[in-house]
Parts: sequence; structure tokens; C-alpha cells
Amino acid sequence: MKKQGLILMLCLMCALFATKGMAQNTIVLREDNIDDIIKAMTVEEKVGLLVGSQEAMMPGAAGNTRPIERLGIPMTILCDGPAGLNIEPTREGTDQTFYCTGFPTGTLTACSWDIALMEYMTSAMGNEVLEYGADVILAPGINLHRNPLCGRNFEYFSEDPLLSGKMAAAFVSGIQSNGVGTSIKHYAANSQEINRRENDARISDRALRELYLKNFEIAVKEGKPWTVMSSYNKVNGDYTQQHHGMLTTVLRDEWGFDGIVMTDWGVKEGTVKAAKAGNDLMEPGRPVEMERLLAAINKGEISMEEIDRNVRNILKYIVKTPNFKHYKHSDKPDLKAHATVARKAAEESIVLLKNGNNTLPMKGNEKVALYGITSVDFFGIGTGSGEVNTAHVANMQEAMTTAGFTLDKDLAEYYRSCYATQTATEKMNGSAIDKRHRAEPTVSIKAIERQAQANDMAVFVLGRTAGEGADRVVKDDFELTAIERELLQNISMCYHKAGKKVVIIINAVGVVETASWKNMVDAILLPWTPGQEGAYAVADILTGKVNPSGKLAETFPINYMDIPSSRNFPYTWDMTEGRKGERKNVDFTDYEEDIWVGYRYFQTNNVEVSFPFGYGLSYTTFSYSKPSVKAGKEGFTATITVTNTGKVAGREVVELYVAAPAGGLEKPARELKAFAKTKMLAPGQSETVTMKVSAYEMASFNEEHSAWETAAGTYQVMFGASVADILATASFNFKKAQTWPVHDVLRPVKEAE
Ligand code: BGC
Repeated sequence: MKKQGLILMLCLMCALFATKGMAQNTIVLREDNIDDIIKAMTVEEKVGLLVGSQEAMMPGAAGNTRPIERLGIPMTILCDGPAGLNIEPTREGTDQTFYCTGFPTGTLTACSWDIALMEYMTSAMGNEVLEYGADVILAPGINLHRNPLCGRNFEYFSEDPLLSGKMAAAFVSGIQSNGVGTSIKHYAANSQEINRRENDARISDRALRELYLKNFEIAVKEGKPWTVMSSYNKVNGDYTQQHHGMLTTVLRDEWGFDGIVMTDWGVKEGTVKAAKAGNDLMEPGRPVEMERLLAAINKGEISMEEIDRNVRNILKYIVKTPNFKHYKHSDKPDLKAHATVARKAAEESIVLLKNGNNTLPMKGNEKVALYGITSVDFFGIGTGSGEVNTAHVANMQEAMTTAGFTLDKDLAEYYRSCYATQTATEKMNGSAIDKRHRAEPTVSIKAIERQAQANDMAVFVLGRTAGEGADRVVKDDFELTAIERELLQNISMCYHKAGKKVVIIINAVGVVETASWKNMVDAILLPWTPGQEGAYAVADILTGKVNPSGKLAETFPINYMDIPSSRNFPYTWDMTEGRKGERKNVDFTDYEEDIWVGYRYFQTNNVEVSFPFGYGLSYTTFSYSKPSVKAGKEGFTATITVTNTGKVAGREVVELYVAAPAGGLEKPARELKAFAKTKMLAPGQSETVTMKVSAYEMASFNEEHSAWETAAGTYQVMFGASVADILATASFNFKKAQTWPVHDVLRPVKEAE
């Protein structure tokens, strides 16, 4: 008995030890045991978590975080955006396809000025992220439109930081409502693609704070993105991914960001500096980065507290992800439903720039001569990592036919065959055509004369694409090519002679020159790059089924050189020249124009533009009531009633600009401080919109004091249909100045030139 008891006790003790030992070995990650997990991690495991690997990812994914199986830490998957999820549409060993929806790009959706629409669109986009098994979409791109030639502007929103920041926050909320994450990028001042990995953006503290960081500040505070992507470039001498001031002091300490920062894709020297600065994750991750971190730990160049801080951030992110939660993704998002969302988003954003003699809407059953190679090769999105593998992108030929128009058959066939020939040549040469320079087929004046007799009107689709890795150029890109100009002139002449109208559709990734030719056409519609369904949205606006309500999120200048940043934009850089020493705008770019970007410059200096910021027409008209403004120490609340005074239902964007009192800091003549979009108003119907602006939101940045300052005095509040079309005004007085001091950590490093 005694012996038996002893054996039993020994067995029990063994079992106890075994369980204890097992518990130590099998501690697995939970939301509430992150610190225990950090204690259980080896140094190698910690360093591995800070450096992505590209192993065993979903086809087409951009990167991942490394799994640590013994601790129950899953791999999480990062995929590109921002116009939709960018993954491979086919996979080995299955016939199933993995297409994603191509939504309208940022340049267009910003023109909706509609926060709710943005959330509606991105909650559908986020569902695809979830259902295809990814954890984070590397989006939205929110760099400011400093110059129209930046090749990636289509991925970004606006020249204005408030509009850009609000749109970004809504984008983030919509995606993250699915329980997946976003990565707002590229933080910050990634305003050009030429030498994008090395360029040093030299910017004043004020311009950084008021413009290039402001949209990120709004997006971080209001959207609460899970992650932020630091950019490739430098800001004032330091790579942003190694900039402690930007990544820790400003982003975390001042703005309260509590997610992870990841690098943009590539290895730089200075991995250790990046980790110390607050860049948690290196993407896409290379072994050398792990080696550097391990060596630095051994040499005491980085402390275990700093490593643990970054590891903790990553674990806090991981426990939120679907892969951590073992979400069983279907691989079958409702692409049909999302196509409807994409179409709706385009409809609510497209901008009507000109509508002489109510050319539009058309009846919908006209005989139309549809010109331009882009009528067949329609640009839904741009190129590069921002592209989406969609099953189909509708073009204007299909969309207009579906809408009920009768297209000139021979002309339509001519463009289809030109496109087929160009594509075949492209395949034969084994290289992709540079679509920006896809040759516009010529049409003889005789043919145009004939077509003008046989059809009711002409529609010309002008196309421009661009993307990651290259900026646009002025000649034959920002400006029309000689063939396009001649074609447009001949169309204009022949159709007008026949008493018929000409409409142009600008299907472009960025701003194009319009001043020299806008008088040749009767109507101009701007869908930018409106996604896979965008052509249908354009057709519905042509027929009047949809009343346009988009307004420009950036200025259309008369000439390229009117834009102040043009003096410091490397559009003439010759790629063949090689990199010899330091060259202006290649190795570094001076943001000499300072805060005078977009309408801030044009409006303040009374420089004439082709179409102003905030501009866009409707098929109806609106009147604005007398506004009311109530101000207190905290800020002000403005209300105004908008009435549809026309004959068809429509929506109006109300833009609220503020002019600060004179004296003190030099300020733009007016700055956008709030906006609202009405619901659909029937003829005669009104809506009162309310907009709130805090005292902090009205502040300008005083470099001398490193503080945001809102001056005392009288402020003018302007309610406009564009920055240049103010329809109602009010004013209020701030009795006392207010200041918000911040850290002085962004100042330019003065370099000897
Ligand atoms: C781009 C990022 C992108 C990343 C991953 C980089 O080259 O700049 O926008 O998210 O690649 O594909």
C-alpha cells in the first residue's frame, strides 16, 4: 500500500512537472499576455519579428510579418492598395480566380467631398482584404499633390491637407470596420517619383506642419490606422524611416499614434537607426537587417527596451488581425455587389468642368462619334503597386452602348483595330507599351467631316496614365500631343460647322493643360481614373441619369510653370544621364514655394487659373442662405441653408474657407477649414448644413516659437461653391490669441550647397 502510494505520488509529481514544463513551452499569444510573450521570446525571435520575410505568402501579397509558431504568433499578410486589393488573380493548382474590385482612385474620390461615401466604398474594399485572407491593405496613399507631374498623384487625394486628411480618415474607418488594418503612406513628403528612394525633401518647419504632415495628423487622430508606412525619401537630411522626430516625437507623442510604423519596401543602411527612431517593422525584410540588429544589440548600440518597445507594438497589432483570430476567409467576396459600390463612388465624384449651352445631359439615344484610343483602352487606375487585378475594366465604347447611345460603327471599329494592332506589336516586342505615349491614331479631316454629318455629336476621350517609379512630363503628357491637338481642332471645327456639339472626357491620372483648348469644346467631364466601373458612371452622367456633384480637389493651372513648385520639380531629368554628383531636384528638392501650394498660392496672388480648387458644375443650381456663425473660445459653429433652385435633383458641396486677421504670420487669403455635402435635394428642397471648426484647426505654425498659433481678431468665414466663388460670408471675433507649443524636431539641416 505504502509502495503503491509512493508510486502514485511520484506519478502525480511527474504529471505536475510535465504540465508546468508544458505551460512554459506552450505559452501562446493572447491579447492580455503580450508582456509575458516578450519575456518568453529569444533575442533572435524578437529581431525576426521586426524584419518581414517574403516566405510563403499569399500570391501577389507585398510582405508579411514572420510567424513564431511555438508562441502562437501567426504570420500576418500585407497587400497593396489603395484602389483595391492588389493580389495575383490566379494561382497554381486551381481554376479559381482571385480578382479584386478596382475602385476609383484617390484623385477622383477626393472630388466627392463625401466622407460617408468614402467609408461606404472602403468598407466594401476592406471586405475583400478580409475575405481573401490578408490582414492589412497598404493604403490609403495620402501624399499631398504638390505638383501635377508626380507620377503617383492618382493614388493620393488633394493639394489641400484638410480635404486629404478627412478623406484618409474616412478611408481608414471604412477598411478597418472589417477588422483588418490600413497603412497610411508614405509618411511623408514623398512628392516625386524621380530618385524617390534617396531624394532629400528640404522643407520649412511651417510647410511641413501645415501641409505635408497635416493630412497625416488628421488621418492618425481621426482614423486611427493600425499602421503607418514611412517613406523612402529624406526630410531635411534624415531618411523619414530613421527620423526620430517624425516617427516618435510627432507621430506618437504629439498625435497619439499607437500602431506600428513599417518602412517602405527596400533595405537601407541604418536599420538600427530606423529601429531606434521608432520604425518598428522593416519591409519587405532581408536577413541582413536581422544581422545588423543582432550585432547592435551585442554591441549595446540599441537597448533591449527599444527592441521590446517595437516588438510590443507589433504584437499589439498582431492580436487584432484576422490571421491571429483564425478567421476562415472565403476567397469569395461579393465582387458583383462591390462593382455596384465602385460605380456609385465614381458617380458621386466625377467633376463636370464645362457645360456650354447645357450641352449635357444628352438625351441618351443620340448617334455619337466616339474618338480617341482611350475610348477602347480606358484607364481605370494607374500603374505600379497601386494597380488592381480586376476581371474587367469597362471602356467608353461598351458603357455608352449600354447606356443607349448609337456609336458610329466604323469609327468604333477603327479604334478597336488600332488597339488590337498596338497590343499585338507590344506583345511581339515583348515589352509593355508606355501607355502615356500610346500613339493616338490619326483621323483624316475628310473622315471627320463625314462623321459630323452622320452623327448627332462628338465625344473625345483623352487619356493619360502614370504610376510608381516615374513622374510625368510636360510635353505630350501634361500638354496635349500634336496629334491630339490637331484631332481636337478638326473635330471642333467640323462638328461646330455642322451645328453639333463636342464633349471631351478627361480620363487621366493627373492634371492636364486645359486652357489652350477648352474653348474648342462644349462640355468637359473629368472622371480622372474612375476604377473598373467608371466608364458606366461617365455614361450615366452623359445621359443625365446621374447629376454630377464632384468638385475639384486641386487647381487646374493655365500653364505648368504657373505652379510655384514647378521651379523645383525634376521634370526635365534625363534618365540616361546617370547620377553624377548632387543635382537639384534629383538628390535634393527645395520646397521653395513653402506653404504656397495650390490654391493657397493662386488665390492669394490673384493668379488666373483654368479651373479653381473646389470647382465643379451640376445640372441644377443652388442658392445659399444667410449664414450663421457662433464663436466661442473653443472655435466656431457655422450653419447655412442650401436650396436646390433648379429643375432636377442634385447634391451640393459647401466649402467653408476662413481668412485670418491681418498682422502676425503671413497667411493665405483663405484656407479650407470645413466642408459638407448635402443629401440629394429635389428641386425646391433645402438642407441646413452645420460645420464645426476648432480654434486649433484655425492655427498657423509659428516656427520661431515652434507653436501653433490662433491670432486674436476678426475672422472672415466664407461659404463657397469653389475657392473662387464665395456665395455667403460671415465674421466673428476671437478676443484672445491661443497657442499650442509643439516639439522643435523637424527643422531643416542647413547644408552647404
Ligand atoms: C511602394 C509602396 C508599396 C510597396 C509594396 C513600394 O515600392 O512605394 O507604396 O506599398 O512598394 O509593394
